[in-house]
Amino acid sequence: MMPKSVHGSLQRRVRILSGVQASGRLHVGNYYGALRQFIQLQSDGEALYFIANLHALSTVHDAHTLREHTLEAALAYLSLGLDPNEALLFRQSDIPEITELFWILGSLVPLSNLERAHSYKGKIARGVPASFGLFAYPVLMAADILAFGADLVPVGKDQMQHLEFARDWATRFNMTFMDGYDPQDPQAKKQGQAPGILKLPNARVPERAAVVRGTDGRKMSKSEGNTIELFASDAEVHRRIMGIRTDSTPLESPKPIDSALYELLALMAPPGDFVQLDASWKAGGKGYAEYKKVLLDYFHATFDPARQRREQLRQDLAEVDRILVDGAKRAREIATPIMEQVRRAAGLR
Ligand code: TRP
Repeated sequence: MMPKSVHGSLQRRVRILSGVQASGRLHVGNYYGALRQFIQLQSDGEALYFIANLHALSTVHDAHTLREHTLEAALAYLSLGLDPNEALLFRQSDIPEITELFWILGSLVPLSNLERAHSYKGKIARGVPASFGLFAYPVLMAADILAFGADLVPVGKDQMQHLEFARDWATRFNMTFMDGYDPQDPQAKKQGQAPGILKLPNARVPERAAVVRGTDGRKMSKSEGNTIELFASDAEVHRRIMGIRTDSTPLESPKPIDSALYELLALMAPPGDFVQLDASWKAGGKGYAEYKKVLLDYFHATFDPARQRREQLRQDLAEVDRILVDGAKRAREIATPIMEQVRRAAGLR
């Protein structure tokens, strides 16, 4: 993080960057697991959020689907509170510097690093066809981060290895192509040394990473078919919430807290309400159906403002596109001077 000094106002703010997966309709698990933190962080620094459509292309091979998913992600972020005056929102594919750096880094990345990447092994194990893009995914992700000199990267735990790779490869680039770069002193605090052209990013994993359980009690995930979608129709939301799986504890008995319904109530209830709800849950006397109706009310109270904004935005897709194009333009202004140095250092200019 930047040291405070008398010139504090001239120093650049912490640069926060993260990639948003374009994987279709967003659900309650996406919101509490990631979106909420991203949106909260927008006021803590200079935030850059992009829709990782190039990453999505490694598994989505249908133009219409990819475009829909990209739009879906943009609509979700904007309607849930991402403020384009506060944070940049853009499409990854609108930044050619990313793919350029992808190749430059890729020329230095040891194959053995990629061979031990968890995400690749995981996807192959789930039956995703192996491709170069899937294999090279961590290099593209490192390029996303390093092209903008990001300080902080909010990600889930599963992305930690990717962040370590990004740090390793930035160091490798700086050591290979720079004179006077000391990997022990990457910011060149000592005299006579050069700060790295590629800056080492720090991961920020939410302390209390919310793992949200789905309607069947397992981790909420699109592939499990157990989601409650943020922007589904009222009827569908009703159907999903009333269909949350519960056990056969009788109405009058205390309810076990190891329960997806209980956890969802804890997430969506206003803090003041939860105390009472928790007491009644543990005391017994109410049936699960009653709690589901309460959850349905909380869902609407929490998400209806965003659901309405999304409908409005849907009527003005040209405005959404303007926001994305403007975001990309401003993001490129950040990447341009960094990439200029990268090209020179590598001998491409
Ligand atoms: N791989 C990330 C995920 O699956 C998404 C992502 C792509 C990303 N590029 C990034 C996250 C750069 C942070 C920074 O969640």
